[in-house]
Amino acid sequence: MTVGSPPRKPKKFIVTKEHKRFAEFANAVRRERYIGICYGPAGVGKTLSARRYSQWDKAEALLTGWGPRDPSDSLIYDALNRSRAVFYTPSVRAGLCEFRKEVLLMIGRVDICVAQAQPDHTTSITAKIKRYVELLIIDEAERLSAITLEYVRDLSDRTGIGLILIGMPGFEKRLSRYPQLYSRVGFAHHYRPLRSDELAFVLSNHWKKLGLHLDQTDFTDSQAIASVARITGGNFRLVQRLFVQINRIMKINQLTAITDEVVEAARSTLVIGAT
Ligand SMILES: Nc1ncnc2c1ncn2[C@@H]1O[C@H](COP(=O)(O)OP(=O)(O)O)[C@@H](O)[C@H]1O
Ligand SMILES: [Mg+2]
Repeated sequence: MTVGSPPRKPKKFIVTKEHKRFAEFANAVRRERYIGICYGPAGVGKTLSARRYSQWDKAEALLTGWGPRDPSDSLIYDALNRSRAVFYTPSVRAGLCEFRKEVLLMIGRVDICVAQAQPDHTTSITAKIKRYVELLIIDEAERLSAITLEYVRDLSDRTGIGLILIGMPGFEKRLSRYPQLYSRVGFAHHYRPLRSDELAFVLSNHWKKLGLHLDQTDFTDSQAIASVARITGGNFRLVQRLFVQINRIMKINQLTAITDEVVEAARSTLVIGAT
């Protein structure tokens, strides 16, 4: 099954200003039951924000495995009760049939989980499951064909579920070609790279991981930060890739400080694409 992204190694999630802006945007779409578009360059953190908002890292294994239950699952039901959201990543070239089947299955499963979290929950098999899901978030939405876009628009109309489509810049313009859908877009949210104060915070974590202390008032450190900012443009994924190389260079050369030269040497080993 291709529901959601493949499980990834849990990394420490940093609650950035961009993530908070995303959460406010998602709350608004969910409250107003609108269509919202979120766009931004690859690597800035769109997917992680959406997974975090929808509690998907906690719930994905249970929702896709759908096996025997464990008492600890009540924590997941509570988490889903708070988010009332489904996160879905269509596979490349997914057809409408597969998309429909998987999305409806996930909405149904999240409804069942949320029902379990209700105080008046009954275990009667005949009890009708209510619709609890309030938001469907579709990542990599540029993969959706015109007909699938039309289907989600209709689904959101019929069920009153808010819809967020996440894509790369330019994707929001493509959607303007579908007037039925576009006229229902209530919010467009531009997901931006890290700004300098937050980048410095993220970098201090990277410095720490290398056993170093970042001092912004130190000339060498501030120069190194400026180089990282220039090279990565505050793009989370590029920062991470750069630090893999910095780490390697530091080890090979037995260095004890991250200097401008180290950052430059790390950059030269990377193929940094346009972001
Ligand atoms: N809030 C965050 N906290 C920690 N790491 C993050 C955060 N956002 C992004 N990252 C890192 O950046 C990488 C790219 O993020 P991702 O959400 O996949 O970007 P996008 O979906 O915009 O292409 C992630 O794999 C993760 O390592
Ligand atoms: Mg992504």
